[in-house]
Amino acid sequence: MTRPTASSTPARSQVTPTAPDRGADANFLPAVPLLALDRQYAVLRDEIRGALDRVCDSGKFVLGPDVHELEAELARSLRVPHVISCASGSDALLLALMALDIKTGDEVILPSYTFFATASAVTRLGAVPIFADIDPITYLIDPADVKKKISKRTKAIVPVHLFGRTADMDALLPIAQAAGLPVVEDAAQSILSTWHGHCTGALGDVGCFSFYPTKNLGGVGDGGFLTTTRDDIAARLKLLRVHGMEPRYYHQIVGINSRLDSLQAAVLRVKLPHLDAWTTARQVNAARYQDLFAEYDLAGHVAVPGDETRGRHVWNQFVIRASGGHRDALRKHLAARGVGTEIYYPVPLHMQQCFEYLGWQKGDLPQTELAAEETLALPIFPELTVDEQRTVVGRIAEFFHAPQVERTTDDIRRTHQPAAVVEEPHFVRRMNAVGRADDVRC
Ligand SMILES: Cc1ncc(COP(=O)(O)O)c(C=O)c1O
Repeated sequence: MTRPTASSTPARSQVTPTAPDRGADANFLPAVPLLALDRQYAVLRDEIRGALDRVCDSGKFVLGPDVHELEAELARSLRVPHVISCASGSDALLLALMALDIKTGDEVILPSYTFFATASAVTRLGAVPIFADIDPITYLIDPADVKKKISKRTKAIVPVHLFGRTADMDALLPIAQAAGLPVVEDAAQSILSTWHGHCTGALGDVGCFSFYPTKNLGGVGDGGFLTTTRDDIAARLKLLRVHGMEPRYYHQIVGINSRLDSLQAAVLRVKLPHLDAWTTARQVNAARYQDLFAEYDLAGHVAVPGDETRGRHVWNQFVIRASGGHRDALRKHLAARGVGTEIYYPVPLHMQQCFEYLGWQKGDLPQTELAAEETLALPIFPELTVDEQRTVVGRIAEFFHAPQVERTTDDIRRTHQPAAVVEEPHFVRRMNAVGRADDVRC
């Protein structure tokens, strides 16, 4: 049995979910959380408290030494010349578009299948979001649709590296270049993901990241940062995040107040050295899910996400697809058995009430609309255990009455890897969970 290399939409399944077999409960854990930040904190508690104390003792709370150190450390980790921190991923997107001088009436092309902030950054500047459809396998912006939607008014393209997987930059960058358009990467979910060995955030003109606690590198509150290889954009971003002020009380341009506070930076500096190992653990979990799903006859019911061969997929989310109208019933079934899931995102942005004035209709973005109806995110956090993953997949198989299928010795060996391998990148490489060996670190 082989693991999938790409997810695929399963044929419409005929399922009549029945009452749960209570006898099966003995095989499963009573609950599996979608995310368990307490497990990460338990390991780092003393270090984090020490860092918080240090900042409180210093009295330097806004853009202090920890913020500047964090920016330098991120620049080294991501191999990008400029890192500019700010107050959130949402602000990062707004600042990026402000730095590119996006104004009223300008058009910006972006996916509709993303978090709200990708589009609200555009509308807050009076510009017009032009939504492109997605690839049904990767859920990432479809370059062919981007190309079709470029007009004389287009001023930027914003691909989103959703769920930790890099958008198809091989196709997008030449399209942007031919049209003379800047690319703003929404990399909020993709820290340390790569494309042919280069980190996201360093592929286009500006990269926008989030430190929201659910992200792969999450703070203890809101925070974000921008990356750029362009000196001119870096200089503008540094001004824009402090009301365009330089020197003090002299305002060259109108910016916003979007500064990262030192308490967040100090905590993030404790976490950053662990990010590579946590990312590897996510990759191991994803590979293990792929194997566990293959243990059951679920092919007609559930599409499992595949690996990315052109770069490092950092698995901020592991999103399956349940077709045949069963997604919501499956989620209810899992919730009743203590398994946490989430829908990212139930209402595509072009269908949001606040964007009705833009005139988009149901049917305008068919792949986006179908994904919103069928996708479901499962727990994928680094500390997730093998037994928890077995429970998640077993409970899904239970819902679909999917029997176990015969497995080879190789398959069995893979899914029985001890937890210790989580820290070991060779395991990930052996499982082809990364595109290239040099992508393990970026
Ligand atoms: C794709 C995407 N873009 C932007 C954001 C906004 O980030 P933040 O929540 O830090 O404002 C998020 C995070 O929720 C996101 O997932």
